[in-house]
Amino acid sequence: MKRRLWITITGAILMSTLTAGATGKSGSTKKSSFGKSPDGEPVDLYVLTNKNGVEAAISTYGGVVVSLKVPDRNGKPGDVVLGFDSVDGYVSDKSYFGALIGRYGNRIGHAQFTLDGKTYTLAKNNGENTLHGGIKGFNKAVWGAKEIPAKNGQALELSYLSKDGEEGFPGNLSVRVVYTLTDSNELKIEYSATTDKKTVVNLTNHSYFNLAGPGSGDILGHVLMIEGDKFTPVDSGLIPTGELRDVAGTPFDFRKPTAIGARVDSDDEQIKLGGGYDHNFVLRRKAGDPISLAARVVEPKTGRVLEVWTTEPGVQFYTGNFLDGSAHGKGGISYTKRSALCLETQHFPDSPNQPKFPSTELKPGERYHTTTIYKFSTEK
Ligand code: GLA
Repeated sequence: MKRRLWITITGAILMSTLTAGATGKSGSTKKSSFGKSPDGEPVDLYVLTNKNGVEAAISTYGGVVVSLKVPDRNGKPGDVVLGFDSVDGYVSDKSYFGALIGRYGNRIGHAQFTLDGKTYTLAKNNGENTLHGGIKGFNKAVWGAKEIPAKNGQALELSYLSKDGEEGFPGNLSVRVVYTLTDSNELKIEYSATTDKKTVVNLTNHSYFNLAGPGSGDILGHVLMIEGDKFTPVDSGLIPTGELRDVAGTPFDFRKPTAIGARVDSDDEQIKLGGGYDHNFVLRRKAGDPISLAARVVEPKTGRVLEVWTTEPGVQFYTGNFLDGSAHGKGGISYTKRSALCLETQHFPDSPNQPKFPSTELKPGERYHTTTIYKFSTEK
């Protein structure tokens, strides 16, 4: 009797050890060298693996999400973001692949804004306008990194001090971004910042997703839903006109899941200005919800599903219209037009010059804090 019990117990322990080993139950974070920045600073790559074997690789250069490996409907893992094999690709990159964007995500019209009567002049790096923080945005900085404990996964804290006057912005801005790869297959990004002078802040991540994998063609067959009843129309420089326009009756109506390719080449004036989708959607918020669903993307061939949850009021939906095949990414794949999509959670573009848009101002003593979650699953 006793002997049989002992055999059963050891058998059970052995079984659970084997299962844990097979699924990588505990998760891990591994650090390795990713090369050097142009200034000779060492750059690291952190590979976070959760208990299901989902993997996120993050570089200290630009805080870039280099790769994100999630299962398809048959459980086969595959990378779902565009990027480069080494830091050199990110140094010469002009498309912001996977990067943290700041101090101001998206555009500021005429490269200037006024705070308390003082006009600040920024670099014009996108026609007449400033895009994604200027010439050397947060995407070109080497961030400090520290592994930190997480209740439900693996977490990496990145930090960066953007000095007073950097790219023309006022105030020393102390920025902290925590990436957590949760055991529920989410990549959670928490952004926080404090300043010693009144400034403007709008932080985001610029991952380019292709849920069938980089190199698998365009994303026109991905089916998208956006929780937005309105969007912000733009002028020819892609600066919002200030209007919040109803999506109803336009190619911007993604309230019901629709293939991205269905209307991407329509002769709608706004689609033409963007060369496809390159617009900010005004997200529908449920009163009292700390974080809301912004968008859901389904890739029919692999069954992969991406949900974007955020505390932000807007999301920039961009169909990779400027990708022209000149960037050669991981494994030498050339990144062509519409081979990926971006869902950049944010405050609205040009908010510092648009008094009716939600404010992006940050004062000394206040703390900027936003959260975005990219959640992966599959459907049949
Ligand atoms: C954002 C902008 C686009 C483009 C990309 C980067 O999505 O809205 O117009 O600049 O970044 O290439």
